[in-house]
This record gives sequence, C-alpha cells and structure tokens, in this order.
Amino acid sequence: MSGRLRTGSATTRPRFLTTLASATATTGLGCIALPAFSRSSQRPIITHGVQSGDVSVDSGMVWARADRPARMLIEAATTDSFKDICHASFVDALPETDFTAKALIENLPAGQDIFYRLHFQDLSSAQAISEPALGRFRAAPTDRRSISFVWSGDTAGQGWGIDPSRGGMRTYATMLRDRPDFFVHCGDSIYADCTIPAQQRLPNGETWRNIVTEEKSKVATTLADYRGNYKYNLLDANLRDFNAEVPIFAQWDNHEVMEDWWPGEAFDRRGYDVKSALLLAARGSRAFHEFMPLRYTPSEPGCIYRKISYGPLLELFLLDMRSYRGPNEARTDSHLLGPMQLAWLKRELKRSAATWKVIASDTPLGTIAANSPGARTPVGHGIEIADLLSFIQHAGIRNTVWITADLHYTAAHYFDPGNAVFQDFEPFWEFVSGPIHAGTWSLCALERTFGPRVVFQSAACHEQGDNLAPCFGLQFFGHAAIDGKPEMLTVTLKDVDDRVLWATAIEPKSDQSARRHSWPLPSKT
Ligand SMILES: [Fe+2]
Repeated sequence: MSGRLRTGSATTRPRFLTTLASATATTGLGCIALPAFSRSSQRPIITHGVQSGDVSVDSGMVWARADRPARMLIEAATTDSFKDICHASFVDALPETDFTAKALIENLPAGQDIFYRLHFQDLSSAQAISEPALGRFRAAPTDRRSISFVWSGDTAGQGWGIDPSRGGMRTYATMLRDRPDFFVHCGDSIYADCTIPAQQRLPNGETWRNIVTEEKSKVATTLADYRGNYKYNLLDANLRDFNAEVPIFAQWDNHEVMEDWWPGEAFDRRGYDVKSALLLAARGSRAFHEFMPLRYTPSEPGCIYRKISYGPLLELFLLDMRSYRGPNEARTDSHLLGPMQLAWLKRELKRSAATWKVIASDTPLGTIAANSPGARTPVGHGIEIADLLSFIQHAGIRNTVWITADLHYTAAHYFDPGNAVFQDFEPFWEFVSGPIHAGTWSLCALERTFGPRVVFQSAACHEQGDNLAPCFGLQFFGHAAIDGKPEMLTVTLKDVDDRVLWATAIEPKSDQSARRHSWPLPSKT
C-alpha cells in the first residue's frame, strides 16, 4: 500500500504527491488522446475533491466537480504509479448538473486497491486541463478475506457547521484512521432545513464559529440551495480527505429534503415560500444524486434503495424509508418502504448467499410503529416492518443485522420477540451510531412494537439538553469487521476520539438454504 493521497481543496489549488505530478505531464491519459498538458492559469479547477462509492467486486463509481463546463477524464490503475492503467473514460460536467460528474469504472480486479486520477478539460478550450485529483478505493473481494466498514449519519446539523479552530468535522478524520473498506452514510448527509449561522453560544461560555456560505444562511428551497448544502460539507478538509480514500455507500433520510416530510404531505411550514413537499423532494433528490457517488442503475432508475454485494461474506441492503412513505399518522395504509421496495427486499434477502446480510436503515426500528391500544397487530409504519420480520423468520433467512443513525446518540438494541407486542420474528440486533457532526441528543423512548432491549447506549444527559455541540466529544460512528475464517461479525461503537465504547462479536448461524448455492449468484440487481 502506498502513502496517503492528497486531493484538491475546495478553496485552494490542489496539492498532490510529487511522484504523481510528473506522471501527469504526458500527452495521453490512458487511451484518451489529449493535447499537451496545459500550464495556463486559466485551466479548470476541481472544486470539491473527489469521491468514490457503490463499490462492487469489479467496479466502483467516481465523482468530482469542476468550476466550469468541462470534460472529466478518468483513469484507474492498480498502482499509484499509474503505469498500468486499466480504465480510461470520460464524462462531461455541464451546468445542468452544476458541473458535477460521475462515472462507473468497470472490469476491475476483485479485492484490489484501485487508484484513480481525474482531470477536467475545459470544453471551451481543449488545451486547458486541470491539475489532477487523486483517490483510491478497494474493489470488493470474491474470496472470504476479512473486511471492515464504518457507518454513521447526521452531518452538519442543528447549526453545527465547520469551525476550523475546533478541527472541523473531526469524526471523518477518525474514521479514516480506522482504514475501513467503505463507509455507509445512513442519512441526514445534509440538513437542508437547518441554517448555519456565523456563531453559536456554547454552554461553557465559549463561542462556536462557523464557516458560512450564502446557501446555508437560509433553509433550502431551490435546487441551488440544496446543492449548496453538499458544497458546504465539502469545504471540510477532513471530509475531502476521507472521500479520497474511502468509498461511500450513501442513503438519505429526511433532512436531505426537510424535517419529517412525506411525499403526499399537504405542506405549509413556517419559513418556506414553497408549499409542496414533493417539489422540494424533487430538488433535494436531484442534488443528492448529483453530489453523491451512487450508481446510475440501482434496482430502479433514480432510486436510492439498492443492494451492494460485497463478496461472499457480506451483502448490504440500503433502504429508502422516505420516498415511498405514507402519512406520518398511524393508519393501516401507512407505507414506509412501499410495496415495490418491500417486495424487492424480501426477494433479494431470500436469494442472498452472503454470510451476513446487513440492512442499513435510515430510520431506527425502535422508533417505528404505533400500536392500537391492546392490539397485537401493528398499525402505521410498522405494518411493513412486521411483515418483513415475519418473512425473514419463515423464509429461514439467517444472520441479518440492522445498522442505522438518526437518534443522534449511539446504542445497541437487541430486538426480542419475548419483549415485543408483535412477536413473529427471530431476535436480531440493531446498532445505532451518529451523529458524525451534529447536535447530540438525549435518550429517546423506544416503541415496544418489536421489543427492543437496550444493551448499550451513550447519549447526552438530560441536563445537557438535546443539541449538545460536537466539541463535547459525543459524536459517534460504528465499526463492523467480518473475520474471513470464522466469519465472525464484530461490531464496535466508537466516538470521535476513536475510543471503544462497546463491542460485541456475533457468530453466524448456519444458513442451509444459502449455503447450497455457490457464490456469486447470477443477479439481476
Ligand atoms: Fe439527523
């Protein structure tokens, strides 16, 4: 493995490894013929670093943004010398996508470190080519080698933005030091409905001083506002460094659009000149897809829920509990996943031959469902969860684990039918970790519907209130490691200083139906 790569800064010219700078002074990038490298001061600039995401055994998405209409030139290699380029392609970054561009790098060797190099070529002046930005990711393995990942959620919420004097978004730097194979962002990747003020008063008398931008000085309603939320986060050097080295599997929750929205909501909220939740969702969704390195072709075009097969040990199911949501009040027709997503999830769980099936949920299960008093059948959003948990039990699907964020504290919940109102399911774990960089909340009361037992939790205490600033150390992420040989899953809940707060090791149960298949299965998704 080589040393750490450096990528472009949002505010300054990019910095690079000197050994790589010389490799760019060529007249060809991979198999793409280019004019001589431009030394013009008018060359395009890569504005917000690079990202990769949705990595599989043989492919991965890469992302960057230019400062003008430009062609993104993509090269990938298995060494950081870029002598063995295995992929070269291009995609245009146009005003229609706010000059963002992303591309799928395919036909990669499984389990290998992949180094990628991006340039932008000015569409109005072909001689003008940006300096390169560099990144890397590891392709998923096809063998049973040990793997690890981190997850969290809730970035730049409650007015806690980037205070450079406090180190910025430090949890990203901590997660990077753990060198995970990938990162699952469980949602609230922006807080479109929270402004970032210039400063906030802290309970200890100090002042928190944010970097401010025009787009983050109001709640997001326009497409430019939503884009501005992602650009704000990418001003943070910790986040950009993390993105350059760790692929992200991104979900969304509610704050990518607005607090607690649902598509059919009759919308009239204070502070908003737009009255349609669906219109805001369309703009928020577009910005999310522009700025997050999701694949273009998940289980249905443009959607967020999808499966990522990460070798024989792990399959990830990323859910979307916002886009297909029914009314927030408890009714018998209150969808959470929607019929299509629920059918997809059941089908893909059943056909999964991976040892561990990790379900990443934007909403903690302990907060889902309201029950009619005395009834054993859930109403409201819990209907589909009850159906799903029953299905998992009766289909003989083993080794499902849920991960989530959203509570703005960290916890280990063991869902036990013996403790539940709805009891037709096998016990399972849900691990909660967040926020990455937002207010820490105090403990919330959990719904009893699926019988969560709190095995561990760490939160703000009630005296600290429900919006404790990130500088007080209660920022959290989860770390999951699957050992290749015994296939044991070890889950560790950590804080911003990388302290281990709690950990457990779970042995996989044998899954006869799955083990009959060889891996990988032919997959449609
Ligand atoms: Fe949140």
